[in-house]
Amino acid sequence: MKNAENISVVTNTDSANSFENEVLELVNFDTTNRPRAYANAMVRFHHPFTTKERLDAAVKAGWNVFQFPSEMLQGGDFLSDSGTTTMTAEQFAAMFLGDEAYGTNWGYQQLLDQMGETFGLNTQDYEFYFFHQCRAAEHALFSHMKGDNLIVPNNSFFDTTRANAEANKIDARDLIYEDLKDDPNHPFKGNIHLENLEKLLAGHGSRVPLAYLTITNNTGGGQPVSMENIKAAKKICDKYDKPLFLDACRFAENAYFIQQREEGYKDKKIADIVRQEFAQADGFTISLKKDGLANMGGVLAVRKDSSLMKRYPTLLNDLRDHQILVEGHPTYGGLTGRDIMTINEGLKTVTQEHYLQGRVEQVQRFGNYLHELGIPVVRPFGGHAVYIDIDKFFEDTDMERGDFGGIALSGLLLLKGIRLCELGTFAFGQYDPKTGKETFPTHNYLRCAIPRNKYEEQDLKYAAECIKELYDRRHDIPKAVPTFGRDLSLRHFKARFELV
Ligand code: F0G
Repeated sequence: MKNAENISVVTNTDSANSFENEVLELVNFDTTNRPRAYANAMVRFHHPFTTKERLDAAVKAGWNVFQFPSEMLQGGDFLSDSGTTTMTAEQFAAMFLGDEAYGTNWGYQQLLDQMGETFGLNTQDYEFYFFHQCRAAEHALFSHMKGDNLIVPNNSFFDTTRANAEANKIDARDLIYEDLKDDPNHPFKGNIHLENLEKLLAGHGSRVPLAYLTITNNTGGGQPVSMENIKAAKKICDKYDKPLFLDACRFAENAYFIQQREEGYKDKKIADIVRQEFAQADGFTISLKKDGLANMGGVLAVRKDSSLMKRYPTLLNDLRDHQILVEGHPTYGGLTGRDIMTINEGLKTVTQEHYLQGRVEQVQRFGNYLHELGIPVVRPFGGHAVYIDIDKFFEDTDMERGDFGGIALSGLLLLKGIRLCELGTFAFGQYDPKTGKETFPTHNYLRCAIPRNKYEEQDLKYAAECIKELYDRRHDIPKAVPTFGRDLSLRHFKARFELV
């Protein structure tokens, strides 16, 4: 074989080709590991904290993970994938070009163009309302759904989306295929229950201003929704002249699952699948803190010709007034010029195949580490998070659902510098102070949400190991007793506990 110096003096094309073939053959092997799609451009060092310091902080926080100081989380902060994305060098560079003008800043038109490009929309057909977060967009939408006894169906409402609907006296109704809950193989467990959707629209259509579809289905375990299901839901909505809105926070991750799992999409580009998703929608809300790959931002988009306008003819203007009253001028809403620039870049990156493959595969690998260690996890794994099934985790112990084992487990993990999020009997349960009774949701999960482009393999392995150690000691895990906030709405953000 020739060495590198010889390469430059080879003039004969045949021998150059044979050299090329020789070296290409040498590296023609497959690997089980794949390199990350990126390299670090910035790092933040952890402060060294002791377990005792973390214990003191956890007690001070009332064992509420939201109140625990993030700088103590040396092991990994898996509380949320929202706004926690590590931005790219391009995003940081773009921030410097942010134009902080009060009206029609330089990034605004770029944002409209980029949304048109990424979502495949003709932006002239829509009204866009920019907000600082998605929940502000949801609040705007639901607070303008006037009428008595309204029902809005969804595959599963996210907690703030539900809270915004309910705060406006709307019956937020989850229509999921309950029987798929324990199926570890179903590729699209996030699908909306089509028969129940049709039944609802046929029976109570006049009470339904719009139907919602959350892609991916965060509350239901981060599970994807198939293109077939999105299209079928749209068809049903069309039949009853109802608009279909997407909660599109994780539109790209959903598209990745469609490409990987749904027949007929293997050879389709993510960018095209994304456009097909949005083509089915009369409008959408999106938190750009997820698949916008940004740290802030939310949008409400409404098709100007949506049937929603028949019910609420002044809606588009009412929403505009709402935005101006509570957020800002229509051309920036709740966003700084810098935010807008980072979103523009994020929306370019998120549909790139190598980014998405690395992103979703990392989540899948984390799920596999836990599964192989025997931890009961929801399978198949979702796109942004792995969910530990708390009922199964404590199945053979005396932990009852009302002992809030998920809260206790997440509390103990804080002491190892790891933060997860309980989305189970505490977050979604309700306490009636009159009867002293708790009502519980179907799912009882502890979510490990993986921030985008942030952690390396060893962080995930460390977290998995810690969870396994506590799984082995599950009979000794204390119960969590709420000492404050049990009866409050959105109680998981505010409550305090003792571990006993
Ligand atoms: N819809 C879904 C499906 C979400 O997951 C979220 C946020 C929202 C709406 C609200 O967006 O935070 O910008 O107001 N989910 C985060 C989470 C908070 O941790 O799952 P936001």
